[in-house]
Amino acid sequence: MAEATLHFPPDFLWGTATSAHQVEGNNANNDWWDWEQKGEGRIFDGHTSGLACDWWGGRAEEDIERMAALHTNTHRLSIEWSRIEPSEGSWNRAALDRYRAILGALRDKGIEPMVTLHHFTNPLWFAQRGGWLHPDAPRWFQNFVKKAITELADLCTMWCTINEPNVYASLGYFSGRWPPGTQSLDSYLRVLKNLLLAHAAAYTLIHDMQPQAEVGLAKHIALWRPASRSPLDWLAARAIDRVFNGVTLNALETGEWRPPLKGEETLGQVKGTLDWIGVNYYSRYDVRFSLSALKSLGITYRANPYAPKGPESWGELYPDGLYEAIKRLHRQFGLPLYITENGIPDEHDNKRPRWILESLRQVWKAINHNWPVKGYYFWSLVDNFEWAEGYDPRFRFGLVGVDFESQARTLRQSGELYAEIAQTRTITTDMARRYAPQAVEALFPGKGPEDLRVVSL
Ligand code: FCB
Repeated sequence: MAEATLHFPPDFLWGTATSAHQVEGNNANNDWWDWEQKGEGRIFDGHTSGLACDWWGGRAEEDIERMAALHTNTHRLSIEWSRIEPSEGSWNRAALDRYRAILGALRDKGIEPMVTLHHFTNPLWFAQRGGWLHPDAPRWFQNFVKKAITELADLCTMWCTINEPNVYASLGYFSGRWPPGTQSLDSYLRVLKNLLLAHAAAYTLIHDMQPQAEVGLAKHIALWRPASRSPLDWLAARAIDRVFNGVTLNALETGEWRPPLKGEETLGQVKGTLDWIGVNYYSRYDVRFSLSALKSLGITYRANPYAPKGPESWGELYPDGLYEAIKRLHRQFGLPLYITENGIPDEHDNKRPRWILESLRQVWKAINHNWPVKGYYFWSLVDNFEWAEGYDPRFRFGLVGVDFESQARTLRQSGELYAEIAQTRTITTDMARRYAPQAVEALFPGKGPEDLRVVSL
């Protein structure tokens, strides 16, 4: 096979992503920490986040060195509201200084931070007052955002208001697997709406305070495919896509809030509150209608049993779906787009190199359609605390492995690969052969010039 190279633009951003609670350690003043202490099967094997990757204790800086060694030039991290505002209206100077130190360390290494303001966790005081169900929640959040921008705007211009509003709302308020453990469609929708209002208020506020800011949010896109040709499966797939993806996206695009069967409302202030949109993409699910699943409105889903899938209830590992997700968001918004998360749970790093190559090939394809895809943040830099999966070894996401006993780090093969890609801004047949030989054919289907046939007339 001849050599081939996929080129990425010189100004493309190469990054990794983390979130505060998953890496900092000792985040003891938020609702997740509280949930972890309650035990009773909430988290895999009764795990608690504990020291996590000890970023708060000082290891952020050494992991920032690792980002630089990977040749990345951006990193997406979140700041923890409960540290900055431990009780309503009181501000923790030491916490703000620690974040200043972390952001400063990133910038010193030439790594542009993208800061997420809400990544699943809430201060205890906020949760105790009703959390995201409370009508004042957007206002409480806005106070925090105002403080964060006042204190950190000289170190950051890329802000991600809210991480995955749909995932946060559905796991906390519909399935009840995450705090506060509520199971109600109505609560799910109320929380989702409040998060969108909070996003919009933050967008306006940040622009008032920092005109050059670039503000967006990270939308988790799961792909829902009918499991068969049955019209009922098709309807079920449409319905779950609407509740999980469509309602949020439409509100952001048009300002119209139209949840199924729950009336309509105009949220004019939400319309157009994005400078860019972020997509978090991981997997695809086959959807089936089932009369026995009444609690979930007859909708059931699982990974295609004949395709590669992740552990437990994780979906199908379908890297090409990243292209579908980008295409959908591009068509709907036409905005600059970042892949704010993309990754794979893979304890032994058997599948990750291939996942990276195949996913980035989809990004490359989108860029070559001239769609404004500006950067890619791999989830994650380091193994970390994976919410309800805790430290379940099957849910290791890092380019760098972490031994949580000793805090020792080990660069994985996939990390070496990602470093080569970020450094050269290319994907080559040679890289594919070295890191994922089984994927060469899929990545580079042509055989090169020697395969051209001369046709004689
Ligand atoms: C995303 C979350 C992130 C991490 C990855 C695996 O949904 O945003 O915190 O848990 O999944």
